[in-house]
Amino acid sequence: MAAFGTQFMPEMALATFKDNTWSAAKKVSSDSIQLHPGAHVLHYASTCFEGLKAFKHDDGSVYVFRMDRNIARMQQSTELLHLPPFPAELLEDMILSSLADVVDEIPAPPSSMYIRPTHIGTEAAIGKAASPSQSSMLYVLLSQVGAYFSGGDTALRLLVEEDTMRCAAHMGMVKSGGNYASAMGPILRARETYRADQVLFCPQGDVQETGAANFILIDGNEVITKSLDSSFLHGVTRDSILTIARDQGMDVQERSLSVKELLERAAKPGCEAALSGTAAVLAPVGTLIHHGEEHTIGSGEPGTTTLKLRQALNEIQWGQREDTHNWLRKVSR
Ligand SMILES: Cc1ncc(COP(=O)(O)O)c(C=O)c1O
Repeated sequence: MAAFGTQFMPEMALATFKDNTWSAAKKVSSDSIQLHPGAHVLHYASTCFEGLKAFKHDDGSVYVFRMDRNIARMQQSTELLHLPPFPAELLEDMILSSLADVVDEIPAPPSSMYIRPTHIGTEAAIGKAASPSQSSMLYVLLSQVGAYFSGGDTALRLLVEEDTMRCAAHMGMVKSGGNYASAMGPILRARETYRADQVLFCPQGDVQETGAANFILIDGNEVITKSLDSSFLHGVTRDSILTIARDQGMDVQERSLSVKELLERAAKPGCEAALSGTAAVLAPVGTLIHHGEEHTIGSGEPGTTTLKLRQALNEIQWGQREDTHNWLRKVSR
């Protein structure tokens, strides 16, 4: 299969906001949109997006995972970016009708259909650096994706970064392009200098998240991750993994985690760490690089609890384990 997110379904659903009104959604070709070169998004980054997945079950039926959460997060991003608000039902219908049109092209697990709703400010107004776009475009791209770790699991190497932030502190919970742009430089430097896969942003020693995933520490029966605040993205996978861990009787602690505590715990045998996100689900972390020194987490290999939690989540998504929390929504043809 092609690289993650590079192959798109030929059509997408699109709605536009103009003159204080949302248009009805329509199906358009997914390989082009018309945008004025002075569009607000191209200059002042009025853009937010989402990432969620739909899965095919053994009987051929298709389910989308926790769509309500992603829609709510996109509404929150929209509000924080001062883009025109949209009704949840509009995006929900766009997602479900787009999926219904391509049901037969949704691949079987471990592959899935990745869904990328996007909302951009389209007003042609290059003088509006400090005022919102009065018009916008909402669309839903679909892309077939394979298993993230098709070559098997390898434990990731993370650079622990205490001096740089991923993005402006008040923007962390917004899923907006600008945040990824501001994290790019530190990530590229970490790759080049330390062969790190990702940067774990820990401003002032507070363990936050990486460029595109949440960080979870697993120490025996304890699961530790930063409690929700506006500084980082509130991952749907994070919430799902914590819920499954609680269901399994684990001691889930949403609280501050310092770099000092992280490094102390990491050195203990049996300690594990993982990154959670829609694309990779739960990716094992094996090494932390801090002040040029390498710290192995537990054995340095993918952790057994990490793999067990990931499997539990995958089995719910794939219809192989009971969906006790009603996370799946059936797509009707
Ligand atoms: C910055 C950031 N943090 C966390 C996540 C994980 O969020 P989710 O589990 O909802 O995919 C993502 C992924 O989309 C992300 O980009």
